[in-house]
Amino acid sequence: MSKKVFVTHELPGDTIHELARHCDMNVWMGPGLLSAAGLRAELAGCHGLVCLLTDRVDKSLIEAMPALEFVSSMSVGVDHIDVEAMSGRGLPVGNTPGVLVDTTADTAFALLLAAARRVPEADRFLRAGEWTAANAWAPEFFTGKDVSGATLGISGLGEIGRAVARRAAGFGMQVLAWNRSSQRVLGVEMLELDELLRRSDFVSVHVALAPETRNLLSADRIAMMKPGAVLVNTARGGIVDEYALAGALASGQLFAAGIDVFEREPVPLDNPLLGLPNVIATPHIGSATTLTRARMADMAAANAIAALAGRAMPSCVNPEVYC
Ligand code: DGY
Repeated sequence: MSKKVFVTHELPGDTIHELARHCDMNVWMGPGLLSAAGLRAELAGCHGLVCLLTDRVDKSLIEAMPALEFVSSMSVGVDHIDVEAMSGRGLPVGNTPGVLVDTTADTAFALLLAAARRVPEADRFLRAGEWTAANAWAPEFFTGKDVSGATLGISGLGEIGRAVARRAAGFGMQVLAWNRSSQRVLGVEMLELDELLRRSDFVSVHVALAPETRNLLSADRIAMMKPGAVLVNTARGGIVDEYALAGALASGQLFAAGIDVFEREPVPLDNPLLGLPNVIATPHIGSATTLTRARMADMAAANAIAALAGRAMPSCVNPEVYC
């Protein structure tokens, strides 16, 4: 009898159709995202789960599913899954690294440039009919910060951080980086995080969210950032103290921020960052290109197919379960 696999969303790509041939697959067709209670009900009796980063797979859910054999997430980040609980049962967790590296680095750079040159603010100004003969052009009109020649500090020099460093080199930026484990990249100066924050005109966050990185950019660290700096976060909410960041942006200590990820998603409209003109906020679209999302879905489905066949997942965050 085929094993039961639950998929929490319709997925793009081709490999999902192949997965359907390997199991008894049930796909949540909406409307909207599945609630926690809905996920628990749908997953009952399933052997596998293919999920998104919006699905919370916590210890109590894992413990309540005795038949569960694997979880495959269509995401590189797995902070929504209790990996320790999965490993404790010897079950693999799959993710989708690599394929979203350049797309996410492009998003980080888009936010960096847009924040530096106040692009959304200028767009809003024009559409509101505020561009009039009285202010048609003036020396100080919508002046921003130069990117070329500035210093970029990359916090987390993994694959995405390195892809951002390559883009920065093309813009003639000096690139500094901090990483939890040692890293060497040509043209990148490695520093302690506090020193990086003091020296950088732009800071881009690229660490995974884990207990050690939660609140990494705390109020104290934000206070030590170079006056007039720009912060970009395309990694995860929870890494940056949003209230401290909003305070630093409102007071003028920081020039601007480009934020794609929030502590709570979808972000509540009373989040203090959303009231500030010098914040560009996007709804977690770092990897959102059609091609990249299809590749991510293909990887997630391929991980599930491997798990169903009793093979190691091509991309597994807890490979020790195979030892
Ligand atoms: C991931 O895969 O973890 C990314 O946040 C998706 O954009």
